[in-house]
Amino acid sequence: MRLTASWISLLLQLSTLELALAASPPLLRPRDYHSKEYYALQLRPSAVPEEMAEHLGLQFEGQIGQLNDHYLFSGPKTDEDVVHEFRRRRKRDSSGVDANDLIMFSEKQTPKKLEKRTVIPPPPPHLKEKRQFWGGMRSDQNLLQGMMDIGQKLNINDPIFLEQWHLMNTVDKGHDVNVTGLWLEGITGHNSTVAIVDDGLDMYSEDLKDNYFAEGSYDFNDHVAEPRPRLSDDRHGTRCAGEIAAVRNDVCGVGVAYDAKVAGIRILSKQISDADEAIALNYAYQQNQIYSCSWGPPDDGRSMEAPGVLIKKAILKGINEGRDGKGSIFVFASGNGAASGDNCNFDGYTNSIYSITVGAIDRKGQHPYYSEHCSAQMVVTYSSGSGDAIHTTDVGTNQCYSGHGGTSAAAPLAAGIFALVLSVRPELTWRDMQYLAKNTAVVFNEDDGLWDKTASGQLFSHRYGFGKLDAYAIVQAAKEFKQVKPQAWYKSPVLSVNHEIPQGAGGLKSEFKVTKEMLQKANLERIEHVQVHMNAKHGRRGDMSVDLISPEGIVSHIATRRDQDSSTAGYKDWNFMSVKHWGESGVGTWSVIVRDTRENQYNGTLVDWSLILWGESINAETAELHPLPGEEGQQKAKPRPTTTAAVTTTMLPSTHPADHSEATGNPADHPNRPVNSKPTGDANKANEENPTADTPDLDSTTDSASYLPSFLPTFGVSAATQAWIYASLVLISLFIFGFSFYVIKQRRKARAARLAASGMDYEFEALDGEDEEERGGVASGGNSEAAATKGGKKARDLYDAFGASDSEGMFSDDEEEERRESDRQRGIDDSSRVGEEGRGLLGRGERS
Ligand SMILES: *[C@@H]1O[C@H](CO)[C@@H](O)[C@H](O)[C@H]1NC(C)=O
Ligand SMILES: *[C@@H]1O[C@H](CO)[C@@H](O)[C@H](O)[C@H]1NC(C)=O
Ligand SMILES: *[C@@H]1O[C@H](CO)[C@@H](O)[C@H](O)[C@H]1NC(C)=O
Repeated sequence: MRLTASWISLLLQLSTLELALAASPPLLRPRDYHSKEYYALQLRPSAVPEEMAEHLGLQFEGQIGQLNDHYLFSGPKTDEDVVHEFRRRRKRDSSGVDANDLIMFSEKQTPKKLEKRTVIPPPPPHLKEKRQFWGGMRSDQNLLQGMMDIGQKLNINDPIFLEQWHLMNTVDKGHDVNVTGLWLEGITGHNSTVAIVDDGLDMYSEDLKDNYFAEGSYDFNDHVAEPRPRLSDDRHGTRCAGEIAAVRNDVCGVGVAYDAKVAGIRILSKQISDADEAIALNYAYQQNQIYSCSWGPPDDGRSMEAPGVLIKKAILKGINEGRDGKGSIFVFASGNGAASGDNCNFDGYTNSIYSITVGAIDRKGQHPYYSEHCSAQMVVTYSSGSGDAIHTTDVGTNQCYSGHGGTSAAAPLAAGIFALVLSVRPELTWRDMQYLAKNTAVVFNEDDGLWDKTASGQLFSHRYGFGKLDAYAIVQAAKEFKQVKPQAWYKSPVLSVNHEIPQGAGGLKSEFKVTKEMLQKANLERIEHVQVHMNAKHGRRGDMSVDLISPEGIVSHIATRRDQDSSTAGYKDWNFMSVKHWGESGVGTWSVIVRDTRENQYNGTLVDWSLILWGESINAETAELHPLPGEEGQQKAKPRPTTTAAVTTTMLPSTHPADHSEATGNPADHPNRPVNSKPTGDANKANEENPTADTPDLDSTTDSASYLPSFLPTFGVSAATQAWIYASLVLISLFIFGFSFYVIKQRRKARAARLAASGMDYEFEALDGEDEEERGGVASGGNSEAAATKGGKKARDLYDAFGASDSEGMFSDDEEEERRESDRQRGIDDSSRVGEEGRGLLGRGERS
């Protein structure tokens, strides 16, 4: 009898195992968030998840995708965290093994909905105008003929091919991805696969079905194999897919890589848990090479959200093991929140070192009002703006769409270009791809004042990354590319500061010196990505900004002021990232300058920060894969050593005299005072690595602009100080100038505020204002990058947001203009109006 029982249980276990092995990933059962709770657990390898389910009184749902020892369990709906309660009670099971000890990590799942990075695109030209335009009236005749010749040569008979300006622009020469030369070489995306992680993919569209890759596809919202669009607005993913791999046939247009395969991974149509998102981002990760992601946390200029730990693990798992260890290519849209002052460094997907962040430019090579800027942005490519958008496939058997836009449309175009790269060099790693994107990016709008030279000589703009993608250039470079050695990293100790941040134009500067020895010990040859991990408290988070300055003097604006962000949460264990230091050695003093940009009742404190340098290893043999987050140590993440000694913290002079004394007390008391210079126990350890850190050295006394008070007569008799006196005098003149400027600005602000108080729409009023300067100040919102210096520029961005860009474009529509004018008079604000246009546009799209 006993024998039979154990046989039965063995058989049961085997069948569960079989079931688990058959499905890929195991046990993708439908979720039921209405009547069930889900728990993600990481168990010790020795644990049997079915047994754990019994202990916990939960149902075993299966492994979480590719994450070893991570399992999903379900239980009845309750406000309680059942696993948490269980661990609290430390119940012992019958055999005496403490089941609690087998749980390494647990997280109750709270489903959430991610936002598509679709923007309401500007109205498309009227059909009549469109015909005129694409019929050649407005096109350059030679360019149009050229495009027609190429179409003929390649047997492209797709009806909207000639409208696909992003592939070959026949009006504004050169404003396209420059792909046709590759097609003529036969490079069209063969053998490459891109997964569109989105709201579905219409695999029955005549324009997509031949390139649809079923094995790489899954619907994580409805838990069925086919990620079919089901909701009325499930159109985004299909449109993205069309940009990449619309088939060369007689339907709509062609994809940039029209012989590549596209898979659909549907996650955006309903709520989804972190566990499912983690499974999705590793789905079929040996076949799906590129994951195109045009979504993220809200782009509202207020959110500061990073992927949860399970998702972070999945992303790194994909990097370490996807594509046979070459790493999944994650492409993320930078975000559409620029008009709300958003910055892609406040989004944990776009500022990940593992994703290639792609922003947008429009068909005239202008910055569209929506495209976010940040130091983590790698490149840009084409999307909506200046009166047109991306023309692509839509949901339906033979449906096209001419209004696809936002950074949503830029990311897939980049993904398609990367598919072309992989079709030529499938062995390239995820980092090789980043090198190629960076190295071959083309600088444009070079005179807009936003480009800075990096240490390697290449230009970088927070708005455009290293420039725009050029398909031809990146593929040619890929053919010859010498693959880089594996990744290595250096992580500084946690640098404890705990110092208040002065308000106004001054700032708090904190430094850390990296020595050659540290990097050698870390096997790090040269830098690619730099991260600043930071904790800061503030009564109004959006008031803060942070600059990172490398030893070579390269400045990354890693955090910018965000006017809409009134959160009191501060920066909590946030990783800011910059690609601007790519190629630097990393040796020398790194500084962060934290500013509290607004003088108001909200103040803040920089708690701590640390520096993480990622790059190419010196010795490939000893390089290792980075462990998954939370698995660095044995059990929990080993806390990194903390030090207070290796930092010198200095108050920066404020340009506002009154602030200055407020911020620093009496400057003469501590003109040059390193804050928190007391060594602690841990600090001694850190000092072994960095013996010079606590002795003031030349580096720390020659900090630029750090010691305004040193001009005071009580200080400075040495030659060095003399030099400083003169420098300071120059600075003072600058400050006076700055102060006057500031006062003028404040007055203008006050005026705007009065208008706002009087019930008029602030932005609206300001935009209507005749004053260029003021428009800029308003338009910039949190876009501090340009706010200070580029008033006029930003005004145009906001102007674009009003859909007015086409007034300078070729499709200026009198009716539209009239309506805008009457809206103005009626005082309708911008957002609702743009919304109206958007809805109208969608309606048109559906009808066509
Ligand atoms: C575009 O591709 C062609 C080859 O088709 C190449 O000669 C050219 O340099 C590329 N770049 C531009 C800006 O045209
Ligand atoms: C695609 O891959 C297969 C197998 O690896 C190879 O034989 C074939 O030549 C490739 N096709 C192209 C167009 O590169
Ligand atoms: C703001 O200033 C007050 C008074 O100096 C101080 O007590 C408080 O801790 C500060 N808040 C932050 C977040 O630093």
